[in-house]
Amino acid sequence: MKVPQFMPFVAMEEYESIKRCFETNWITEGPLSSEFNKKILKIINAKYGVFAPNGTLALILAMKALGIKPGDEVIVPNLTFFASASSVEFLGAKPVFVDVNKDSQLNVADCKRVLSSKTKAIMPVHLFGLVPDMSALKKFATEHNLLIIEDAAQAFGIKSAGQSCGTFGDIAAFSFFADKSLTTAEGGFVATNDKEIYDKLLFLRNQGRRDRGSFIHPEMGYNFRITDIQSAIGLAQLKKFDRVIKNKVLIHSKYTTLLNNSEHVEILQPSSDINPFIPFRVILKTKSNEAEQLMTYLQECDVEPRGFFYPLHKQPAFDFLKDDERYDDIHFPISNHIYKNYICLPSFVSINDEQIEYVTKTINTYYQKGGNKK
Ligand SMILES: Cc1ncc(COP(=O)(O)O)c(C=O)c1O
Repeated sequence: MKVPQFMPFVAMEEYESIKRCFETNWITEGPLSSEFNKKILKIINAKYGVFAPNGTLALILAMKALGIKPGDEVIVPNLTFFASASSVEFLGAKPVFVDVNKDSQLNVADCKRVLSSKTKAIMPVHLFGLVPDMSALKKFATEHNLLIIEDAAQAFGIKSAGQSCGTFGDIAAFSFFADKSLTTAEGGFVATNDKEIYDKLLFLRNQGRRDRGSFIHPEMGYNFRITDIQSAIGLAQLKKFDRVIKNKVLIHSKYTTLLNNSEHVEILQPSSDINPFIPFRVILKTKSNEAEQLMTYLQECDVEPRGFFYPLHKQPAFDFLKDDERYDDIHFPISNHIYKNYICLPSFVSINDEQIEYVTKTINTYYQKGGNKK
């Protein structure tokens, strides 16, 4: 049986929805985008928001609007998707890495170690449906006068202690890439509750002007528009978002139940504060640096696993940072452990029970055959 890592959850509803763009002859960012925008803000309970072409550009736009500039430093967790850190670098600022905890979330206790007179902001990343300790993080940010940029690329619709991801900090970036719980194929969104920041976002994303059609540009700006075709997909996706949440939680709990008796592995669990929990991927934790070998075995059996993020302090693209001792390997024991032990199991919305059973059976067989023989 073949089990892919991922399949987008799109079908005729999305197809029917994009027809509206062609019927009305409005394909660029327009009425459907403003309808989609309002609905997004309602779900995440934020006051203001703008679209961006993808999550990476949403992060860049968000930090630009906050005034992050060359020479500034931004604290970023060492285990996250590359774009969390590369977006800082693209603004000429420096991403400074801190270790994560065993749940793979930013470890606030490690932040003091990297503080400098240049530190301007901190970027919590809500990874895999989990949430870092936001009250400790906010306390730390207030004590040290730091701005908070939430990388909520994977966290649309998730709440922790009743508060939506994307509203804890000064600004937040979301991604609507095809593997996200809500997709527009490609797409991003920047949310804030601050009117002044919102005004900056409007100028920055529209060539430094407030209104389209004018050729007078009071400020510098880019083009961060999306299209109504993408928003039409997003609107159709919103209609089935409750089903997505329900299915994803079910998939997570099926894996948990089926592997409950294993002495070798366990499934990463959310804290009870997180509700709704919307697992971006189901994460399997192994114990003896087994990720690589288990993934090879799964692949041989037609299951497509995915490894964990490579620790950022080891990324070849960040070699130029390594003279600074804050990037020394010794500071990142948990990131290194997670990289060698955690893997992402296939957990797309339409995965069926047989496929989940096959994946867990394959994992159990791997251990019956002796597991890690390295
Ligand atoms: C944590 C995180 N940040 C940023 C991004 C970038 O989003 P995009 O792929 O839409 O540019 C992703 C995408 O997967 C992500 O997972």
